[in-house]
Amino acid sequence: MRIDVLTLFPEMFQSPLSCSILKRAQDSGLVEITLTNIRDFAANNYRKVDDKPYGGGPGMVMMPGPFFDCFEHVQKLSPQKGRVILLTPQGQKFDQAKAVELSAENRLILIAGRYEGFDERIRIGLGAEQISIGDYVMNGGELAAMVIVDAVARLLPGVLGDEDSAKNDSFGESAGGGLEYPQYTRPEVFRGMKVPDILLSGDHGKIAEWRHQQALERTQKWRPDLLTEDNKPK
Ligand code: ADE
Repeated sequence: MRIDVLTLFPEMFQSPLSCSILKRAQDSGLVEITLTNIRDFAANNYRKVDDKPYGGGPGMVMMPGPFFDCFEHVQKLSPQKGRVILLTPQGQKFDQAKAVELSAENRLILIAGRYEGFDERIRIGLGAEQISIGDYVMNGGELAAMVIVDAVARLLPGVLGDEDSAKNDSFGESAGGGLEYPQYTRPEVFRGMKVPDILLSGDHGKIAEWRHQQALERTQKWRPDLLTEDNKPK
């Protein structure tokens, strides 16, 4: 998969992209991530990309010119058209189902805005889909773009090893769209808290059944909104 990110702050992405699974995924060619600075497409000497809103009001609005020039440049970097996504609190809420859907694309073009907002002609002109990562307002779309890159990349075949497959995650296939079962590792007793006997029993059938039941109970207790007819505890 190829992911292009258009942003005013490419440096914000450096650390998350150069660690752990995302680094490995890029090094092994499973995902190619390109960052392009919208400010490089500002037409003026001051590298200005925002201006006061028409009609008055607080804050600054991102101008359409640098956005469109940047977008047209990025699109030509690869022959694939790509799915164009604008990060904004006004967008459709991002969730695991959306991550799965996006992981099937061959190219994503993520656009992170800043300041008070985008000139409306950016949304209209680009024909972009809008995605929000939650009902709160951040200073810009960069962190939201990173959330999407992270959640999508780990679903790409080969990115996770078999033993830590995304199927076992909360919201994943094994969890029936609900929460994941509890995990334990050594020591057997920690500060008086003991690992459940069943996990030490060696009975894989019973362990699987226990994990399934635990996942259902936790979903019912903590996230009842995720329960469906298929994953309700019996
Ligand atoms: N930009 C600012 N807040 C955001 C949010 N919640 N989701 C996506 N982009 C944003």
